[in-house]
Amino acid sequence: MTRVGWLKLAIFPLCLVPLAWLVWNAANSNLGANPIEAITHSTGDWTLRLLLITLAITPLRKLTGQLWLIQLRRMFGLFAYFYACLHFLTYIWLDQGFDVHSIAKDVYKRPFITLGFTAFVLLLPLAVTSTRKMIQRLGGRRWQWLHRLIYLSAAAAIVHFTWAMKKDHHRPIEYGIVLAVLLGYRVVVWAMPKVAGKRGGATAVADAAGD
Ligand code: HEM
Repeated sequence: MTRVGWLKLAIFPLCLVPLAWLVWNAANSNLGANPIEAITHSTGDWTLRLLLITLAITPLRKLTGQLWLIQLRRMFGLFAYFYACLHFLTYIWLDQGFDVHSIAKDVYKRPFITLGFTAFVLLLPLAVTSTRKMIQRLGGRRWQWLHRLIYLSAAAAIVHFTWAMKKDHHRPIEYGIVLAVLLGYRVVVWAMPKVAGKRGGATAVADAAGD
C-alpha cells in the first residue's frame, strides 16, 4: 500500500472518534442534562470542522507543493456529509419525532433552521457526485464548478451557527474567519490566473478525482 493509503487508513478511524465518543457517553448516560442538545451540538460542530478541513486541502496543497494532500479531500468531504446526516437525523428523529408538519413549519418559520437546511441540501449534490465515475461523466471543469457549492454550504452553516447561538458569537465568528481566509485565497488565485497556472480539462479531471 502507498504512504497515502496508510495515512487514509489512519485518518478514517480518527474521523469516527467523535461518533464513538457520543455513543460511549450516551451508553453511559454521560451526555449531561439534555442529551439531544449535546448530540445536536457535537454533530453540528464536527460537520463544520470537517467542511473547513475539506476546504483547506486545496490551498494547503498549493502552498506547500504536497500534491498527495488532494487524495485526502474526498474522504474529509464525505465525513463532513456523514456528520451532517447525523446532525439532521438527530433533529428530525430525536428532536421532532419524524413529525413532517412540524419539521416543515420549522424550516419555513425559523430562519436558523432554514439556513441549516439550506447548508445540508447544498451538500447533497456534492456527495452524490463525489465518485470518480461522476467526475468523468460531468467533466473536470463542470465538476469543479458544482463543487464550489461547498463554500455556499459552509457560509450558510456559519450563519446557521451564529443564529443558533443566541448570546455568545465567539465560535461562529472564529469559524467565519477561517472560511473567509480560505475563500479569500481562492479569490486571489482566481484573480491572478498566472500565479495558479492555466489548467486544461484533463488536469482538472485528475485534480477533481484526487489523482
Ligand atoms: C451542513 C449542515 C449543517 C451544519 C454545518 C450545522 C452546524 C451546526 C452547528 C455548528 C451548530 C451549533 C453547535 C454548538 O452549539 O456547538 C448547530 C446547531 C443546530 N443545528 Fe445545525 N448544522 C447544519 C444543518 C442543520 C440542519 C439541516 C438542521 C435541521 C433542519 C439543523 C439544526 C440544528 C439545531 C436544532 C441546532 C441546535 C440549536 C440550539 O441549540 O439552539 N442543522 N448546527
